[in-house]
Amino acid sequence: MRLADPSALDDHRALGADGAATMLNLVRSTGRQLQEGYRAGRSAPGLPSGGLLRSIVVCGMGGSGVAGDILRALYAERLPVPIVPIKGYGLPEFCGRETLLVAVSYSGNTEETLSAYTEAIARGCRVVTVSAGGELARLARGDDVAHVRLPAHVPVPRGALGFLASAPMGVLESMELIPSPADEIERTAFLLEDLATALGPERPGGENEAKSLAAWIGHRIPVVWGSEGVADVAAMRWKTQVNENAKGPAFVSVLPELDHNEVEGWSAGSGTPFATIVLRHGGEHPKVGRRVVASLEAIAPAALDTREVLGKGFGPLESLFSLVMMGDFVSIYLGVLRGVDPLAIPVLSGLKERLRE
Ligand code: PA5
Repeated sequence: MRLADPSALDDHRALGADGAATMLNLVRSTGRQLQEGYRAGRSAPGLPSGGLLRSIVVCGMGGSGVAGDILRALYAERLPVPIVPIKGYGLPEFCGRETLLVAVSYSGNTEETLSAYTEAIARGCRVVTVSAGGELARLARGDDVAHVRLPAHVPVPRGALGFLASAPMGVLESMELIPSPADEIERTAFLLEDLATALGPERPGGENEAKSLAAWIGHRIPVVWGSEGVADVAAMRWKTQVNENAKGPAFVSVLPELDHNEVEGWSAGSGTPFATIVLRHGGEHPKVGRRVVASLEAIAPAALDTREVLGKGFGPLESLFSLVMMGDFVSIYLGVLRGVDPLAIPVLSGLKERLRE
């Protein structure tokens, strides 16, 4: 792989190329998206009753499916019912009249999500749909199901994460299932505005942590470790953003789980092709800090090159989205250094096309 000199990240021509500029602008808009998506979810008409619910299921794939992981990371410990993200065609046996099923698809045309939606209707689940149009919106209209309409101007679902994550939060608030997250969302949007300046393309490499991380990863394969909770979701987002924006493989693991398997795989000298990023957050279990140190010491002979990124802000939403924003910027800069278009996803789109035929 030919890698550009890190100075390319301060070159306005490289960063101003169509795909990179579009993706950078979308990342910068994450805070505003959070505010707008939340308002859209909260004011959605015709939401079902939240009374006597036994489960909340969030169906979605890829860039939209993250919404379910985020809801679970934020609320699983605060809700009396389980939140279950589903990433596939079918539903678990327990889904029925006492299940709230939120079907999330930015395009509204993802076949797995449409299949899960259809099954949810057949089983009598209380259904809410979230999309920027497509078949999901059309079905919801026909079935008289509540629909949260997202703005349709975003060219790729992964660039709409703020909308996709916060719309279900607004829905849950409106159904009186969670306390209002309005303050948390405002604080997070504020933090993300600052972070977008600190990590954005105008901030030169020497003072920009995202550019520095991208240059440090370079041609190597990122291995992203996330401490359980919000950093675990952020780690998965880092991985998928490296895949789609930088067009490279990446791996993800969660602490403490990785201490029970992965550590054995880092044999002496095996770390050379990899760059490990450890994502941490203020709300993690107190024992995780000790585990990070001990795990890295235990696998020292692998000679893994490692850096740590700590979530910013005070609450889980701030922590989560600050880690996500860092990874989003890093993956786009990595794409620029690797000479690929961060926006285009020809393999993924080609595969969808082929499966549609
Ligand atoms: O990043 C992507 O484009 C994909 O992961 C999509 O999000 C995924 O294919 C699902 O599409 P949608 O988000 O439109 O439901």
